[in-house]
Amino acid sequence: MPPVLTLLPAPLRRQLERLARSAAKRSYSPYSGFRVGAAVLGGSGKIHAGANVENASYGLCNCAERTAIFSAIAAGETSIAAVVVYTPTAKASSPCGACRQVINEFGPGALVISICNTQDRLEAPLSQLLPAAFGPAHLLRRK
Ligand code: THU
Repeated sequence: MPPVLTLLPAPLRRQLERLARSAAKRSYSPYSGFRVGAAVLGGSGKIHAGANVENASYGLCNCAERTAIFSAIAAGETSIAAVVVYTPTAKASSPCGACRQVINEFGPGALVISICNTQDRLEAPLSQLLPAAFGPAHLLRRK
């Protein structure tokens, strides 16, 4: 099996990273001040971007990854091949637990890449970030 790092062609990877960075500019994050951008590669080959959208009722804040994934699914995607998340920080931050679960729904084999304002980066398949995940198949196992 090839290492995860080689799974995405470099031009596509660069495009995903560029779109994740520019999506962060559209973040609505007046409460945390933490701008996050995400770009999702759908099974169709199209890229869908999103940013975190916060709310005065804090529990309703939506992460950038989920904004991008929901937008991809609403645009007609049925699967997700890769997710790139950008944070304007010195260290890369990987998706929160809720986002990992949502990625699993549409891309259990997705590649997840986190980038930031330095060369620091994280790169792992979703299966490594969310081992033994609960997913759609479990609901089919009811008696
Ligand atoms: N956030 C994301 O957009 N993605 C993550 O994976 C973690 C956190 C957002 C949610 C909230 O708007 C802000 O970052 C602070 O938690």
